[in-house]
Amino acid sequence: MSYDVIIIGSGPGGYVCAIKAAQLGMKVAVVEKRATFGGTCLNIGCIPSKALLHASEMFAHANHGMESLGVEIGKPKLNLEKMMAHKDATVKSNVDGVAFLFKKNKIDSFIGHGKVLGEGKISVTDNDGKETELEARNIVIATGSDVAGIPGVEVDIDEKVIVSSTGAIALNKVPEHIVVVGGGVIGLEMGSVWGRLGAKVTVVEYLDKILGGMDGEVAKQFQRILAKQGMEFKVGAKVTGVEKSDKGAKVSFEPVKGGDTETINADIVLIATGRKPFTEGLGLEDAGVVLDERGRVRTDHHYQTNVPGVYAIGDVIAGPMLAHKAEDEGVALAEIMAGQAGHVNYDVIPGVVYTQPEVASVGKTEEELKADGVKYKSGKFPFSANGRARAMEASDGFVKVLADAETDRVLGVHIIGFGAGEMIHEAAVLMEFGGSSEDLGRTCHAHPTMSEAVKEAALATFFKPIHL
Ligand code: NAI
Repeated sequence: MSYDVIIIGSGPGGYVCAIKAAQLGMKVAVVEKRATFGGTCLNIGCIPSKALLHASEMFAHANHGMESLGVEIGKPKLNLEKMMAHKDATVKSNVDGVAFLFKKNKIDSFIGHGKVLGEGKISVTDNDGKETELEARNIVIATGSDVAGIPGVEVDIDEKVIVSSTGAIALNKVPEHIVVVGGGVIGLEMGSVWGRLGAKVTVVEYLDKILGGMDGEVAKQFQRILAKQGMEFKVGAKVTGVEKSDKGAKVSFEPVKGGDTETINADIVLIATGRKPFTEGLGLEDAGVVLDERGRVRTDHHYQTNVPGVYAIGDVIAGPMLAHKAEDEGVALAEIMAGQAGHVNYDVIPGVVYTQPEVASVGKTEEELKADGVKYKSGKFPFSANGRARAMEASDGFVKVLADAETDRVLGVHIIGFGAGEMIHEAAVLMEFGGSSEDLGRTCHAHPTMSEAVKEAALATFFKPIHL
């Protein structure tokens, strides 16, 4: 069978690329080793974790967020089985949605393990070991990423006691104590879920702050808020061992600056120390596809590898491991393969942590601007001075706008607060059009909204806020 393009992997990078390529008139096939489409994101990542984050937030809110609003409902009761069923149903409707879109766009699919045999040729081995050879003008590697584990530490992730995010979204009871190794996005999101449902949560983080890449001021306030919610932090602590014990597991760590090793016991340990590109069994070495020093598929600016007609997008190449980055690359690559000018603006890729409050950012952090020697000005506005936030008892957090000191062009926006993940997009659109803080501050914002805090932070950047 011969195609214009065959895509290996049906995650957000692969499936979006497939749909866009089909829309542009190409004959497309997708190869997927899972029984369902959607990759890590839809099956065991973004989507199920958001179902649990929402449900656990409702539980926590019912537990202690409503009485002050005059809503008295008594103590809520957790039905974990039902919560997990909600998560499973959410996953099913999303993966079925991708299957529907494949059908609608006349995209063929092959369930099995894809292997690149060289220019224009791939093989698919199905679960029964049957091999099919396919031909294509273009091959796209969109195989995503896998759990990296702890660098230099041997850990047996059994997904029952010592879990990755995969096991952390499927626990069958609320642990008494969950120790999270890594204070990054996965650790804080999943730590929040189980903390809200009643677990004691201890986060052990190597750096001296959580969310390493995020704006320092935001990360600091975020840690304070999470600590107030009951999360415990051991920062500047390097985990050196994770072992199973009679009662669960124990985690050993030592101060990064030097000092004695400490050990804590847990019934569940979540390993959330990053992900690595997934390239195993793809035949890339035999096909002559070159990887970079970090095991990622090396591509040029048009996502082409060193082998003509073989492309790669998403977590398996350089850049942030984010579903929306992969999706945009999928669209750009389909356009490039169709002879159009596909492009992704890597300076404007939002990042969101879906905790309560949410943390969202786009563009440069203050730390990055300082390191780059860029002269900038900044404006801040707290949600405690926003009327809508007060009405909703959501006054934690602030908005920070960073703009070029001379041109006033917005270089970065950072938000910690309720709904930050939605509010960030007005900043992303502004930055995509090269807008200034004055443009943002002079744009009429509906009252009363949380978004008025974004406008006020912009006003604070080029002159003065009104409500402070
Ligand atoms: P991460 O890179 O965000 O955080 C890992 C953390 O582990 C870092 O802070 C690191 O300093 C720490 N660490 C590493 N070795 C350690 C050690 N020996 N002891 C203690 N701490 C150690 O990785 P994470 O949270 O596993 O997420 C993986 C990927 O998935 C990331 O690229 C993330 O962006 C993505 N993701 C994105 C989400 C979102 O956008 N909301 C949600 C979940 C994942």
